[in-house]
Amino acid sequence: MSFTEIPEVPMRRNRSELAVPGSQTRFFEKAISSETDVIFLDLEDAVAPDEKPRARRNVIEALNDLDWSGKTVSVRINGLDTPFMYRDVVDVVEQAGQFLDLIMIPKVGCASDVYALDVLVSQIQNARGQSNRIGFELIIESALGVRNADSIAAASKRNESLHFGVADYAASVQARTTNIGGPAPGYVVLTDPDDAGSRDMHWGDIWHYPLTRMVVAARAAGLRPIDGPFGDFSDPEGYMAAARRAAALGCEGKWAIHPSQIGLANTAMGPSEDELDQARRILTAMEEAEQAGMGAATLDGKLIDYASIRQAKAIVARS
Ligand code: GLV
Ligand code: MG
Repeated sequence: MSFTEIPEVPMRRNRSELAVPGSQTRFFEKAISSETDVIFLDLEDAVAPDEKPRARRNVIEALNDLDWSGKTVSVRINGLDTPFMYRDVVDVVEQAGQFLDLIMIPKVGCASDVYALDVLVSQIQNARGQSNRIGFELIIESALGVRNADSIAAASKRNESLHFGVADYAASVQARTTNIGGPAPGYVVLTDPDDAGSRDMHWGDIWHYPLTRMVVAARAAGLRPIDGPFGDFSDPEGYMAAARRAAALGCEGKWAIHPSQIGLANTAMGPSEDELDQARRILTAMEEAEQAGMGAATLDGKLIDYASIRQAKAIVARS
C-alpha cells in the first residue's frame, strides 16, 4: 500500500438508485415501498422548466411528511449553470435538510463547483442548526467532468459517490448515439477475413473509457462509483449486461429509471451467493496457507496470494 491512506466514505448500500421525478408525486410512496437502496427525487432533467417550482415544493413536502426510514434519500438539484440551482438548495435544505441524506449534483465540471455547493449547504445547515451530515453524489457527465474527475472527487468531505451520467456525457462529447447507456452499432471491429473470406463483427463498449476513468477517480478518493441510467426499460437483458459490465469494472451500483430495473440492479451488484462463497473459500484457504508458513496457495488449480485476500475481503465487506 502507498503511505498515502484513502479514508473510505461512510458505508451505504447503493446497489440500486431509483430516479423519481419531483413532479410525479404519485410515485413517491411506491418508491419508498420498493426494493431500491437509494431514491433520488429529481428536480433536474425529468422536470420541465415551468414545473420546477412545483416539483421543488412537492419534494420539500414529501421529505417532511413521508416516512423515508429504511431508504437513503437524495435530491438531484439543477446544474450550476441554471437559474434554478440556488433556490433548489436554499429551499430544500432550509425546509427539509434534516430529512435529507444526500444531494445529487449534476454536470459537475470542476472542483470549485463542488466547493461552492459545500459552502452553501454548510451555511444553511449551520444557520438552521441542522446537525445531520448531508453527503454529495456527483454526476460525471461531461468532457470537462471526466477530465477533472480526480480533483472533483477530492473536492469536499461531503463527497460520497461519483455517478456516470451516460446521456449527458454522450451529448457533451458528441458521440453518435441517442441510446441511453446502450450499445452503439457504429462502434464495431471487423475481424480479418478467414480462408472463406467471411468476417466476424464484434460490438465494442463505447462507455468503457469514461466509466473506468470515473471508477478510478472515485476509488482513489475513497468514494463509491455508481453507473448511471440504461434508457430502454423494455430490455432487461441489455440492462443486466450493462450492469454486470459496470460491476466487473468496480461499480457498486446502478441507476434504475424504471421500477422494473431495481431488482436487476440489486442482483447484478450483488455480490451473488457464488461470488461470496468463492471469496470465503479464498479467505479460508489463505488462512490455512498462512498457518503452514506460506504466503501463497492453490485453490481449484489457481494461484491465490495476499492480493486475493484483499479482493475477497472487498467482496465480503460489500455483502
Ligand atoms: C444522467 O443524468 C445522464 O445524463 O445520463
Ligand atoms: Mg444527466
